[in-house]
Amino acid sequence: MSAEPRFLRPDVIIEPLVDRFYAWLHTLAPVQAAMNLASVQVPLLESYLQSPQVHINASSNPALRGGFFVNIEAARTEDVRDLLASIKRDRAEMLAFAGAIADAEEIVRQVATGFSLTPLYPKLPAMLSGLVEIAYDTNNQPLIRWIEPAAYESSLYTEDRQSVQLSLETGIERPFILSTPRLSTPNALDLRIPFRHPGLEELFRSRVHGTTLNRLREMLELGDDEAATISRLLAEQPDLADDRHIESGGRIRYFGHACLVMQTPEAAIMTDPWVSSDASATDRFTYRDLPDYIDLVLITHGHQDHIVLETLLALRGRIGTVVVPRASRGNLADPSLALYLSHLGLPVVEVDDFAEVEFPGGKVISTPFLGEHADLDIRAKSTYCVQFAGRTVFIGADSSGIDPGLYRYMRGYVGQVDIAFLGMECAGAPLTWLYGALLTQPVTKKMSDSRTLSGSNAEQAAAIMTELGASEAYIYAMGEETWLVGHVMATSYNDDSYQLKQVDQFMTWCADHGIKADHLFGQHEWRW
Ligand SMILES: [Fe+2]
Ligand SMILES: [Fe+2]
Repeated sequence: MSAEPRFLRPDVIIEPLVDRFYAWLHTLAPVQAAMNLASVQVPLLESYLQSPQVHINASSNPALRGGFFVNIEAARTEDVRDLLASIKRDRAEMLAFAGAIADAEEIVRQVATGFSLTPLYPKLPAMLSGLVEIAYDTNNQPLIRWIEPAAYESSLYTEDRQSVQLSLETGIERPFILSTPRLSTPNALDLRIPFRHPGLEELFRSRVHGTTLNRLREMLELGDDEAATISRLLAEQPDLADDRHIESGGRIRYFGHACLVMQTPEAAIMTDPWVSSDASATDRFTYRDLPDYIDLVLITHGHQDHIVLETLLALRGRIGTVVVPRASRGNLADPSLALYLSHLGLPVVEVDDFAEVEFPGGKVISTPFLGEHADLDIRAKSTYCVQFAGRTVFIGADSSGIDPGLYRYMRGYVGQVDIAFLGMECAGAPLTWLYGALLTQPVTKKMSDSRTLSGSNAEQAAAIMTELGASEAYIYAMGEETWLVGHVMATSYNDDSYQLKQVDQFMTWCADHGIKADHLFGQHEWRW
């Protein structure tokens, strides 16, 4: 039986963990991970251990949704204590490094006053040696530039703290990823292997191509108990939808949030992959509906709801190339998406604004992305125009229409857009919610609240449509599919939410201007 073909079930979930916290860009990229560990994760665990019940109560309070509270039952306090102790012991270097970053920033602030920077290097903490260059901009402002590939080569980046947790979709919302570490449970299989482990690719490719239990045992070095657990995640037959490919024309399918799959008979392009594992649901597309091979994956930006590791890892081995926007090469707020994904074993190509990537029968043009990053100097963000099956489709993600003039240039370069996908999360979280750990100078609440992670409001979305000349508009990426995004975004809307009122206002504008429009939710399909 162990040598017979087996196929991974569509309802298997993988959670990638670092220090048992869910992995995302800021917990994996080494410099940012050090700062997150020291400023967010360790203080969270310490706070929980002081008063677990405060965290537990806050976690179930809808008014505090998306807050930084550890959602772990009090009976497991000792496990949290063990986790904190292991982090302090095994990650002492990371924690010291976070302190060294803060020291270096302070030294630069004090010493780099416009004169030569060469005498400054010996004054920097020794841990930073080889990892930074200091420069002035033309406005004489000093900046530490991180040599990020060297940071990944240093002892800061260790795969020893990576693990994955495999389980079956229950339909119950998982705890918020930014605040709650994943402890081991009887219902989940923990594998202490790095994310790039070839055994994971074998496991997830088996959804389509099949494998055997023997092969998985060997590749993942499973013991008897682990092999028995993993065998429950496998089925004797593949579970794939018959209509996952098309034989003529073009098709777009909305999989939820910012995830779209664009198809022709020759190619498949996917944006910001995020796929539901709930195979029993009939109101959404799931892993059953994905094409077997995805030529290009387009990543719009580094927020945790757009570069979703649990889906990207589940697609490894089925992706031709992941297209990512190029980062600024060294800005602390702007870690490289290419380095991040290549360290996870994914094939990556970096693009600049107006770069072109061809695929069979079509072309992607990367286009600029404005705003939505709390006014930080973050360049690893891109929108895309995809030309296929006779249409040009604009993938706007969370980009906002702060300056509609940009979209005029875009139209000049790309030509008229037919269909535009626009994000309208226009009352986004404040600066410190996502970037607090990376700030080495305190900001006031008022300052933080004024700098948000917001997409277009109605007026900005209308301006984008006018400039692009698009005849169809679809609002997406709002985080409304709670079954998919709840544990990652912790968004909550009600009928009075500003964002939804803005969407309604934009829908009215579209109707008045003869533009076909819809506010997407759950699933949608366009076929021609
Ligand atoms: Fe975003
Ligand atoms: Fe988003």
